Amino acid sequence: MDKFLETVNYLKGKVQEMPKIAIILGSGLGSLADEIENKTIIPYKDIPNFPISTVPGHKGELIFGTLNKVPIIAMNGRFHYYEGYSLFETTYPIRIFKLLGVETLILTNAAGGINLTYEKGDLMIIEDQLSFFAESVLRGPNLDEFGERFIDMSNVYTKEYIEILKPIVKEITGKCNIGVYAYMKGPTYETPAEIRALRVMGADAVGMSTVPEAVVARHSGLKCVGITCITNMAAGIFNETLSHEDVKETALKVEANFKQVIKEFITRIN
Ligand code: HPA
Repeated sequence: MDKFLETVNYLKGKVQEMPKIAIILGSGLGSLADEIENKTIIPYKDIPNFPISTVPGHKGELIFGTLNKVPIIAMNGRFHYYEGYSLFETTYPIRIFKLLGVETLILTNAAGGINLTYEKGDLMIIEDQLSFFAESVLRGPNLDEFGERFIDMSNVYTKEYIEILKPIVKEITGKCNIGVYAYMKGPTYETPAEIRALRVMGADAVGMSTVPEAVVARHSGLKCVGITCITNMAAGIFNETLSHEDVKETALKVEANFKQVIKEFITRIN
Protein backbone atom coordinates (compact mmCIF):
# COMPACT_ATOMS: atom_id res chain seq x y z
CA MET A 1 0.00 0.00 0.00
CA ASP A 2 2.87 2.38 0.73
CA LYS A 3 4.12 1.95 -2.83
CA PHE A 4 0.69 2.69 -4.27
CA LEU A 5 0.36 5.79 -2.11
CA GLU A 6 3.79 7.06 -3.11
CA THR A 7 2.75 6.83 -6.77
CA VAL A 8 -0.63 8.43 -6.10
CA ASN A 9 0.85 11.33 -4.15
CA TYR A 10 3.36 12.01 -6.91
CA LEU A 11 0.58 12.14 -9.52
CA LYS A 12 -1.69 14.28 -7.36
CA GLY A 13 1.15 16.75 -7.08
CA LYS A 14 1.25 17.04 -10.89
CA VAL A 15 -2.44 17.34 -11.75
CA GLN A 16 -5.16 19.63 -10.42
CA GLU A 17 -8.41 18.03 -11.56
CA MET A 18 -8.58 14.24 -11.36
CA PRO A 19 -10.49 12.62 -14.24
CA LYS A 20 -13.15 9.96 -13.66
CA ILE A 21 -12.33 8.16 -16.91
CA ALA A 22 -9.11 6.31 -17.75
CA ILE A 23 -8.30 4.95 -21.21
CA ILE A 24 -5.66 2.39 -22.04
CA LEU A 25 -4.52 3.01 -25.59
CA GLY A 26 -3.83 -0.29 -27.33
CA SER A 27 -1.74 -1.00 -30.43
CA GLY A 28 -2.34 1.61 -33.09
CA LEU A 29 -4.49 3.86 -30.95
CA GLY A 30 -1.55 5.82 -29.61
CA SER A 31 -2.30 8.80 -31.84
CA LEU A 32 -5.42 9.49 -29.80
CA ALA A 33 -2.89 10.98 -27.42
CA ASP A 34 -2.25 13.78 -29.95
CA GLU A 35 -5.87 14.86 -29.69
CA ILE A 36 -5.85 15.30 -25.94
CA GLU A 37 -5.98 18.95 -24.94
CA ASN A 38 -4.66 20.75 -21.88
CA LYS A 39 -2.16 17.96 -21.53
CA THR A 40 0.08 17.04 -18.66
CA ILE A 41 2.39 14.30 -19.96
CA ILE A 42 4.21 12.20 -17.40
CA PRO A 43 6.72 9.59 -18.66
CA TYR A 44 6.38 6.29 -16.83
CA LYS A 45 10.06 6.44 -15.98
CA ASP A 46 9.42 9.56 -13.85
CA ILE A 47 6.58 8.00 -11.85
CA PRO A 48 7.67 6.32 -8.61
CA ASN A 49 7.10 2.54 -8.68
CA PHE A 50 5.64 2.53 -12.20
CA PRO A 51 6.85 -0.18 -14.60
CA ILE A 52 8.37 0.90 -17.93
CA SER A 53 7.03 -0.17 -21.35
CA THR A 54 9.32 -2.15 -23.67
CA VAL A 55 7.32 -3.00 -26.84
CA PRO A 56 8.33 -1.26 -30.06
CA GLY A 57 5.53 1.10 -31.12
CA HIS A 58 4.25 1.47 -27.57
CA LYS A 59 5.09 4.70 -25.84
CA GLY A 60 5.42 4.93 -22.11
CA GLU A 61 3.55 7.91 -20.80
CA LEU A 62 0.57 8.82 -18.71
CA ILE A 63 -1.38 11.73 -20.12
CA PHE A 64 -3.84 13.82 -18.15
CA GLY A 65 -6.04 16.21 -20.13
CA THR A 66 -9.34 16.57 -21.93
CA LEU A 67 -10.78 14.81 -24.95
CA ASN A 68 -13.89 16.49 -26.42
CA LYS A 69 -13.74 18.61 -23.25
CA VAL A 70 -14.10 15.50 -21.07
CA PRO A 71 -11.32 15.06 -18.48
CA ILE A 72 -9.46 11.79 -18.98
CA ILE A 73 -6.26 9.96 -18.08
CA ALA A 74 -4.74 8.07 -20.99
CA MET A 75 -2.13 5.36 -20.72
CA ASN A 76 -0.06 5.57 -23.88
CA GLY A 77 1.66 2.20 -23.72
CA ARG A 78 0.59 -0.66 -21.49
CA PHE A 79 2.42 -3.46 -19.69
CA HIS A 80 2.11 -6.94 -21.13
CA TYR A 81 2.84 -10.13 -19.27
CA TYR A 82 4.93 -11.38 -22.22
CA GLU A 83 7.37 -8.53 -21.68
CA GLY A 84 8.41 -10.22 -18.47
CA TYR A 85 6.49 -8.17 -15.94
CA SER A 86 4.73 -9.94 -13.13
CA LEU A 87 0.95 -9.87 -13.31
CA PHE A 88 1.06 -7.47 -10.36
CA GLU A 89 3.19 -5.06 -12.40
CA THR A 90 1.06 -5.36 -15.55
CA THR A 91 -1.96 -4.16 -13.61
CA TYR A 92 -0.25 -1.68 -11.29
CA PRO A 93 -1.71 1.38 -13.07
CA ILE A 94 -5.29 0.14 -12.67
CA ARG A 95 -5.07 0.25 -8.91
CA ILE A 96 -3.46 3.67 -9.14
CA PHE A 97 -6.43 4.85 -11.21
CA LYS A 98 -8.79 3.56 -8.57
CA LEU A 99 -6.92 5.41 -5.84
CA LEU A 100 -6.96 8.59 -7.95
CA GLY A 101 -10.77 8.44 -8.08
CA VAL A 102 -11.29 6.99 -11.55
CA GLU A 103 -14.68 5.30 -11.98
CA THR A 104 -14.58 4.05 -15.57
CA LEU A 105 -11.83 2.17 -17.37
CA ILE A 106 -11.82 2.01 -21.17
CA LEU A 107 -9.66 -0.83 -22.45
CA THR A 108 -8.64 -0.92 -26.09
CA ASN A 109 -6.56 -3.49 -27.91
CA ALA A 110 -5.68 -5.19 -31.16
CA ALA A 111 -6.67 -8.83 -31.59
CA GLY A 112 -6.99 -11.64 -34.08
CA GLY A 113 -10.49 -12.44 -35.33
CA ILE A 114 -11.75 -15.96 -34.59
CA ASN A 115 -15.41 -15.44 -35.45
CA LEU A 116 -15.62 -16.16 -39.18
CA THR A 117 -18.11 -13.36 -39.78
CA TYR A 118 -15.49 -10.82 -38.72
CA GLU A 119 -13.18 -9.05 -41.15
CA LYS A 120 -9.78 -7.51 -40.76
CA GLY A 121 -10.29 -3.89 -39.73
CA ASP A 122 -13.57 -4.47 -37.84
CA LEU A 123 -14.11 -3.18 -34.34
CA MET A 124 -15.55 -5.53 -31.71
CA ILE A 125 -17.20 -4.47 -28.46
CA ILE A 126 -16.02 -6.86 -25.76
CA GLU A 127 -18.97 -8.53 -24.12
CA ASP A 128 -17.10 -11.06 -22.01
CA GLN A 129 -13.70 -12.71 -21.73
CA LEU A 130 -11.99 -16.09 -21.57
CA SER A 131 -8.72 -16.78 -19.83
CA PHE A 132 -8.12 -20.45 -19.22
CA PHE A 133 -4.40 -20.61 -19.79
CA ALA A 134 -3.06 -17.94 -17.50
CA GLU A 135 -2.90 -17.72 -13.77
CA SER A 136 -5.20 -15.19 -12.15
CA VAL A 137 -3.80 -11.73 -11.66
CA LEU A 138 -5.45 -11.81 -8.24
CA ARG A 139 -3.47 -14.86 -7.08
CA GLY A 140 -1.72 -14.26 -3.77
CA PRO A 141 -2.73 -12.42 -0.64
CA ASN A 142 -5.88 -10.42 -1.29
CA LEU A 143 -5.50 -6.65 -1.31
CA ASP A 144 -8.48 -5.96 0.95
CA GLU A 145 -8.12 -2.22 0.45
CA PHE A 146 -9.30 -2.68 -3.13
CA GLY A 147 -11.80 -5.53 -3.08
CA GLU A 148 -12.88 -8.88 -1.73
CA ARG A 149 -11.15 -12.24 -2.12
CA PHE A 150 -13.80 -13.85 -4.32
CA ILE A 151 -15.12 -11.66 -7.07
CA ASP A 152 -18.27 -12.06 -9.14
CA MET A 153 -17.34 -12.06 -12.83
CA SER A 154 -20.84 -12.06 -14.34
CA ASN A 155 -20.54 -8.48 -15.57
CA VAL A 156 -16.91 -7.66 -16.17
CA TYR A 157 -17.91 -5.34 -19.00
CA THR A 158 -20.63 -2.95 -17.88
CA LYS A 159 -23.86 -3.74 -19.74
CA GLU A 160 -25.14 -0.18 -19.88
CA TYR A 161 -21.88 0.87 -21.56
CA ILE A 162 -22.21 -1.89 -24.14
CA GLU A 163 -25.68 -0.56 -24.97
CA ILE A 164 -24.30 2.96 -25.34
CA LEU A 165 -21.48 1.73 -27.57
CA LYS A 166 -23.54 -0.38 -29.96
CA PRO A 167 -25.14 2.47 -31.94
CA ILE A 168 -21.91 4.47 -31.87
CA VAL A 169 -19.85 1.64 -33.39
CA LYS A 170 -22.60 0.86 -35.90
CA GLU A 171 -22.87 4.46 -37.04
CA ILE A 172 -19.14 5.06 -37.35
CA THR A 173 -18.05 1.74 -38.86
CA GLY A 174 -21.27 0.51 -40.48
CA LYS A 175 -21.06 -2.74 -38.52
CA CYS A 176 -21.30 -3.72 -34.88
CA ASN A 177 -19.61 -6.87 -33.61
CA ILE A 178 -20.07 -7.82 -29.99
CA GLY A 179 -18.02 -10.74 -28.81
CA VAL A 180 -15.86 -12.69 -26.40
CA TYR A 181 -12.16 -11.80 -26.10
CA ALA A 182 -9.86 -14.70 -25.31
CA TYR A 183 -6.62 -13.94 -23.53
CA MET A 184 -3.42 -15.76 -24.46
CA LYS A 185 -0.17 -14.95 -22.74
CA GLY A 186 1.89 -14.55 -25.91
CA PRO A 187 4.32 -13.46 -27.18
CA THR A 188 3.80 -16.10 -29.87
CA TYR A 189 0.69 -15.76 -31.94
CA GLU A 190 -1.49 -18.81 -31.57
CA THR A 191 -1.27 -22.01 -33.54
CA PRO A 192 -4.16 -22.89 -35.87
CA ALA A 193 -5.06 -25.73 -33.49
CA GLU A 194 -5.28 -23.29 -30.59
CA ILE A 195 -7.55 -21.06 -32.62
CA ARG A 196 -9.85 -23.97 -33.47
CA ALA A 197 -9.98 -24.86 -29.78
CA LEU A 198 -10.70 -21.27 -28.75
CA ARG A 199 -13.52 -21.10 -31.29
CA VAL A 200 -15.14 -24.20 -29.83
CA MET A 201 -14.82 -22.61 -26.38
CA GLY A 202 -16.74 -19.54 -27.50
CA ALA A 203 -14.06 -17.00 -28.36
CA ASP A 204 -14.64 -14.41 -31.07
CA ALA A 205 -11.23 -12.72 -30.88
CA VAL A 206 -7.85 -13.42 -29.33
CA GLY A 207 -5.20 -11.14 -27.93
CA MET A 208 -2.40 -10.77 -25.39
CA SER A 209 -3.66 -7.98 -23.14
CA THR A 210 -6.75 -6.53 -21.47
CA VAL A 211 -7.89 -9.51 -19.37
CA PRO A 212 -5.48 -8.97 -16.45
CA GLU A 213 -6.41 -5.28 -16.41
CA ALA A 214 -10.14 -6.02 -16.58
CA VAL A 215 -9.89 -8.50 -13.69
CA VAL A 216 -8.12 -5.96 -11.47
CA ALA A 217 -10.61 -3.27 -12.52
CA ARG A 218 -13.42 -5.60 -11.51
CA HIS A 219 -11.75 -6.37 -8.20
CA SER A 220 -11.39 -2.65 -7.51
CA GLY A 221 -15.00 -1.90 -8.46
CA LEU A 222 -14.22 0.07 -11.62
CA LYS A 223 -16.73 0.03 -14.46
CA CYS A 224 -15.15 -1.44 -17.55
CA VAL A 225 -15.58 -1.18 -21.26
CA GLY A 226 -13.49 -2.94 -23.90
CA ILE A 227 -13.11 -2.28 -27.61
CA THR A 228 -11.01 -4.45 -29.89
CA CYS A 229 -9.61 -3.71 -33.31
CA ILE A 230 -9.56 -6.92 -35.33
CA THR A 231 -6.19 -6.38 -36.99
CA ASN A 232 -6.01 -9.81 -38.64
CA MET A 233 -7.94 -13.02 -38.87
CA ALA A 234 -6.42 -15.45 -36.36
CA ALA A 235 -3.87 -18.13 -37.26
CA GLY A 236 -4.91 -20.79 -39.72
CA ILE A 237 -8.06 -19.07 -40.97
CA PHE A 238 -6.56 -17.80 -44.22
CA ASN A 239 -3.33 -19.74 -44.14
CA GLU A 240 -1.39 -16.48 -43.98
CA THR A 241 1.63 -15.73 -41.85
CA LEU A 242 0.93 -13.35 -38.97
CA SER A 243 3.27 -10.48 -38.34
CA HIS A 244 3.42 -7.53 -35.98
CA GLU A 245 3.96 -5.29 -39.02
CA ASP A 246 0.62 -6.34 -40.54
CA VAL A 247 -1.11 -5.92 -37.19
CA LYS A 248 0.24 -2.38 -36.91
CA GLU A 249 -0.67 -1.58 -40.52
CA THR A 250 -4.32 -2.57 -40.06
CA ALA A 251 -4.52 -0.81 -36.69
CA LEU A 252 -3.34 2.36 -38.40
CA LYS A 253 -6.02 2.10 -41.11
CA VAL A 254 -8.77 1.77 -38.52
CA GLU A 255 -7.38 4.40 -36.21
CA ALA A 256 -9.60 7.30 -37.33
CA ASN A 257 -12.80 5.33 -36.74
CA PHE A 258 -11.51 3.88 -33.50
CA LYS A 259 -10.68 7.34 -32.16
CA GLN A 260 -14.08 8.67 -33.15
CA VAL A 261 -15.80 5.80 -31.33
CA ILE A 262 -13.88 6.55 -28.14
CA LYS A 263 -14.56 10.26 -28.32
CA GLU A 264 -18.28 9.75 -28.89
CA PHE A 265 -18.44 7.28 -26.07
CA ILE A 266 -16.77 9.43 -23.45
CA THR A 267 -18.93 12.37 -24.45
CA ARG A 268 -22.04 10.21 -23.97
CA ILE A 269 -21.08 8.87 -20.57
CA ASN A 270 -19.72 12.11 -19.15
N1 HPA B 1 -3.30 -13.17 -31.71
C1 HPA B 1 -2.94 -12.63 -30.54
N2 HPA B 1 -2.78 -11.32 -30.37
C2 HPA B 1 -2.99 -10.52 -31.43
C3 HPA B 1 -3.38 -11.01 -32.68
C4 HPA B 1 -3.54 -12.42 -32.82
O1 HPA B 1 -3.88 -12.94 -33.90
N3 HPA B 1 -3.50 -9.95 -33.51
C5 HPA B 1 -3.22 -8.85 -32.76
N4 HPA B 1 -2.91 -9.19 -31.51
